Amino acid sequence: MRSSILLIAATCFAASFSAPTADNHNFVLHEKRDGAHHQWTKRTRAHPDEILPVRIGLIQSNLHKAEEYILDVSDPSSPNFGRHWSAEKVANTFAPAKKTHDGVAEWLVKSGIDATRHTYSTGRNWIQFNGTVAETEQLFNTEYHYYEHDLSGGYRIACDEYHLPQSVREYVDFAMPTIQLEGMRPIRNLLPKIAAKSSQTGLTGLANCYDLITIECLRALYQFGPGNTSAAGNEMGIGEWADFLYLPDLPLFFANYTTQPIPSNTVPEFISIDGGQTANLTYDNETGSGVESALDFQTSYSIIYPQKLRLYQVGDGVNIDSVGTFNIFLDALDASYCTYLGGDAPYVDPEYPDPNEGGYEGPLQCGGAPISNVFSFSYNQIEAALPVSYQVRQCHEWMKLGLQGVSVLFAAGDSGVANRYNAGYENSCLTSPDVGPYVDVNGTRFSPSFPTNCPWITAVGATFLKGENISDGEVAVALPDSDDPKNDYYSGGGFSNVFALPSYQSAAVTNYLTKYPPHYPSHIYNNSGTSRAYPDVSAIGLNVTIVYLGKTFGVGGTSASTPIFASIVTLLNEERIAAGKGPICFLNPMLYAHPEAFNDITVGGNPGCGSAGFKCQPGWDPVTGLGTPNYPKLKEVFLSLP
Ligand SMILES: *[C@@H]1O[C@H](CO)[C@@H](O)[C@H](O)[C@H]1NC(C)=O
Ligand SMILES: *[C@@H]1O[C@H](CO)[C@@H](O)[C@H](O)[C@H]1NC(C)=O
Ligand SMILES: *[C@@H]1O[C@H](CO)[C@@H](O)[C@H](O)[C@H]1NC(C)=O
Ligand SMILES: *[C@@H]1O[C@H](CO)[C@@H](O)[C@H](O)[C@H]1NC(C)=O
Ligand SMILES: *[C@@H]1O[C@H](CO)[C@@H](O)[C@H](O)[C@H]1NC(C)=O
Ligand SMILES: *[C@@H]1O[C@H](CO)[C@@H](O)[C@H](O)[C@H]1NC(C)=O
Ligand SMILES: *[C@@H]1O[C@H](CO)[C@@H](O)[C@H](O)[C@H]1NC(C)=O
Ligand SMILES: *[C@@H]1O[C@H](CO)[C@@H](O)[C@H](O)[C@H]1NC(C)=O
Ligand SMILES: *[C@@H]1O[C@H](CO)[C@@H](O)[C@H](O)[C@H]1NC(C)=O
Repeated sequence: MRSSILLIAATCFAASFSAPTADNHNFVLHEKRDGAHHQWTKRTRAHPDEILPVRIGLIQSNLHKAEEYILDVSDPSSPNFGRHWSAEKVANTFAPAKKTHDGVAEWLVKSGIDATRHTYSTGRNWIQFNGTVAETEQLFNTEYHYYEHDLSGGYRIACDEYHLPQSVREYVDFAMPTIQLEGMRPIRNLLPKIAAKSSQTGLTGLANCYDLITIECLRALYQFGPGNTSAAGNEMGIGEWADFLYLPDLPLFFANYTTQPIPSNTVPEFISIDGGQTANLTYDNETGSGVESALDFQTSYSIIYPQKLRLYQVGDGVNIDSVGTFNIFLDALDASYCTYLGGDAPYVDPEYPDPNEGGYEGPLQCGGAPISNVFSFSYNQIEAALPVSYQVRQCHEWMKLGLQGVSVLFAAGDSGVANRYNAGYENSCLTSPDVGPYVDVNGTRFSPSFPTNCPWITAVGATFLKGENISDGEVAVALPDSDDPKNDYYSGGGFSNVFALPSYQSAAVTNYLTKYPPHYPSHIYNNSGTSRAYPDVSAIGLNVTIVYLGKTFGVGGTSASTPIFASIVTLLNEERIAAGKGPICFLNPMLYAHPEAFNDITVGGNPGCGSAGFKCQPGWDPVTGLGTPNYPKLKEVFLSLP
């Protein structure tokens, strides 16, 4: 007993006299991974001489004012509504302050990482150096272990938590490689089963909409006409990850399923990001790769034509890990977001040049891709599978696009309150909060999606017709699979465990939670009433017509709903531009201020995780959001704003 007291005293004594690292004795936990990792097994301590490519993300300036800034330009009641920021203003406003750089650099030097070893990213928002495991363990007051991937047998080096001196924490967003383990590529939100419609070969008026939703059906349902303008700079953008566009299907669709003539040589502008390629003619019809892009492009182009469409094909698609992430896409749009020499987060974002055989050999694309006013994405990831710091940083980047006049729409997911496995289509829910919020096929806690959980995204849910006659209106999509409940299709929706409730939806969400309280305890979903809820809106998402490999199919998914809603926003922006106004940027504050411009969906729900999920109710609900678009009313709103 006595000797151990002496030992502690001696240590304190020694520390107080070895000045340079005195600060390190004030370590505070900075990030900790929640719970055990599915698919990864912790092995032995990492060898102390192993080299780690350490990256330290610096805290950006003014982020605490993010909501204020974005609402200032997007809230219809703001005097600055529509006064979007330039890219320069965005970069300057959020660039890390000099004292942030200096603070981190000084700490590294004091800790023995000489300044000659530091390099900075283009946007000067990351500091990078190569450190040994031993050095890095000391720096972050942590222990690194090897982790083995259960399926591939591959290894990664990671820690379970890490610490920073109190005085440095205010400058550091997060550091890598630390707690990151997942390489979660975006997954498409598309019902894997598509129904062949061999009997149908063309337009059938409005009589067969229940069986096959055509552009004609959508126009009748949401009351919009064919596009008749194509304002320069108002092209619509769609991102694709590994789902290649098979060009011959596009003219076949135009010829058979559109009322207005669209020339057969009409193709999207192709924007390749990090090796993204156009039509892969050898694509695999079994996995349905290409169905997603067929759906996205055939529907959107028919709605917005003569306005043009852009295809942002992201990642080389050689290996499942190199397909890309949303960060790779954002890097291509915004050089100031790019990190040091490619690969934003080791183990989360893919590496470029792609080290896989046959992979894209160019560097990560950093800036240079054109920005579109409206972006539609039918992919997402699992909130609980990504580090919180990673999601927060990316969510701010979506906010910055909004500030610059861009509307970003993401599919809400096809598994109700559950989520999907990256590797397959099995529904996954979360384990109870005490065990850690990681994905588990048998979990019972609802599993929200990323980035629809980010408040600066417009999340789109799915509906279907109530009956054969389209004037009967819509209900939330419901397609249970009697053979395998894991393939049930219900509109994704719910409450984030990461992001707080934004003010623009606070009244709508509070109305739902107080008038129609879902009777689930806090271990089933985040029922605090203080978290971001989605979807925001919805559109038809079942039996939507596509031509795939020369044949007609009906496809379902919030993947179908999202490009439909995004195309309607593009038409509305066309109307504004024709009236001498600019496009609307971040949509949500305006949409929530005008619930009357939507067809409120009050029938249906989104079961999952062994529960009935949430129920549709009058007003906003976490199944179909505000509802589906009423074009004439939305047009009135869009044109009434400055
Ligand atoms: C870190 O090491 C790698 C591999 O040797 C090298 O390519 C890279 O340039 C180094 N980075 C820095 C900042 O020294
Ligand atoms: C398109 O229409 C032609 C003529 O009616 C028909 O032969 C063909 O099967 C149709 N193709 C598709 C994909 O529906
Ligand atoms: C959609 O298409 C399927 C398959 O053709 C058909 O059986 C069904 O009635 C249609 N409607 C719904 C709601 O599934
Ligand atoms: C097409 O033109 C008409 C008349 O100028 C206009 O009222 C209409 O809203 C335009 N666009 C669409 C998508 O209907
Ligand atoms: C997929 O390919 C197989 C073999 O080539 C073919 O038999 C099948 O009809 C194809 N499926 C579709 C949906 O085109
Ligand atoms: C694209 O085609 C090549 C063969 O030309 C094939 O090796 C590759 O796997 C294909 N990519 C995808 C994503 O299907
Ligand atoms: C999920 O539960 C089923 C039925 O109890 C069981 O067979 C299966 O192994 C469980 N799966 C996992 C990953 O725990
Ligand atoms: C659909 O419903 C509307 C309104 O109730 C009605 O006027 C119309 O005749 C119906 N159409 C058919 C084909 O039954
Ligand atoms: C619920 O959401 C709030 C607000 O975002 C968050 O602070 C809290 O940690 C969440 N609760 C759980 C259990 O994740």
